[in-house]
Amino acid sequence: MERKLFLKSCGYACLGASMLSVFLESCSGSKQIEGTIMNADLVVSVTSFHHNNSFRKYIIVTHEKMKFPICVYRFNENTYSALLMRCPHQGAELQVFGEKLECPAHGSAFNNMGIVQNGPADTNLRTFPVSLQNDQLYISLK
Ligand code: FES
Repeated sequence: MERKLFLKSCGYACLGASMLSVFLESCSGSKQIEGTIMNADLVVSVTSFHHNNSFRKYIIVTHEKMKFPICVYRFNENTYSALLMRCPHQGAELQVFGEKLECPAHGSAFNNMGIVQNGPADTNLRTFPVSLQNDQLYISLK
């Protein structure tokens, strides 16, 4: 009886610890900001990635004229990916979990380059070219 109770307690403790780590990672790894549209580019400062003497893995960029946000991953100081957070299956807005994006509607999943990992979606996410000038990221919306 005591052994059973001990194992049950351990199970709850492990579950709590894993949920906490997921929660903490999502808190420290993300930031949602409003970008600025200049010509055909969505512009954000690279300082948006700064966080506690380190860098966020990604930021989520919104703008009132865009129906869906764009998730921008930082791989290093010169390499980024910009992914439209719209599921190519039936158009639901995606959610970001660390290095991947998931669809709450039917479970499709995509990696941080927008490549489909799990269906039912069978096409990759829309991506946008990203260029860096004077500490500003220019996400081309053309
Ligand atoms: S709308 Fe995303 S999986 Fe169906």
